[in-house]
Amino acid sequence: MSNSLVSSIVFFCLLIVSVRSDVLSDSCREVTKDDPTINFDFCVSTLEGNPKAKSATSVADLVKVATETAISNSNSIGSIITKLLSNKGLEPYVRSCLQDCSELYSDAGPILGQGEQAFEGKDYGTANSAISAALDAATTCEDQFKEKEGVVSPLTKENNSFFQLNAISLAFLTMVQK
Ligand SMILES: *[C@@H]1O[C@H](CO)[C@@H](O)[C@H](O)[C@H]1NC(C)=O
Repeated sequence: MSNSLVSSIVFFCLLIVSVRSDVLSDSCREVTKDDPTINFDFCVSTLEGNPKAKSATSVADLVKVATETAISNSNSIGSIITKLLSNKGLEPYVRSCLQDCSELYSDAGPILGQGEQAFEGKDYGTANSAISAALDAATTCEDQFKEKEGVVSPLTKENNSFFQLNAISLAFLTMVQK
């Protein structure tokens, strides 16, 4: 193979890669414009962690990437809660909050799965309700810890990332419908 052919191939591959990754950063930038509570770096870095983000060519692809990332996020949060619950010395109030949170996050996964299916079927209303319900699960979990004085939520970081991730899915979903 001639050198120039090799370099043109390399050039085109780089071009494709850069065009594709632009979909992610362009969409994340647009989303942060509409919703200032969404962090641009969080949007890009979290979604980049999903291998499917690399082949995304449209915002619609990114809705799926974001939803799937949220599903796997809800599973890891579930494991974190299980680990926390294994602490025998847990205050009963905190234990009961964590048990509720465990249920909330484990329900969120299948709900998001239904949302993704609805999205694939272009039923955007159902997709929106499902993602909103998942986002609410994080809030409901986090709020419980605030109801009792002196109790600190051990899941604040998890709420923040799961909440943001679903807010990003919702914002992408809105962009798709524009
Ligand atoms: C959960 O995280 C989001 C995003 O960071 C934040 O806006 C929200 O206030 C948090 N929820 C609670 C109940 O603290």
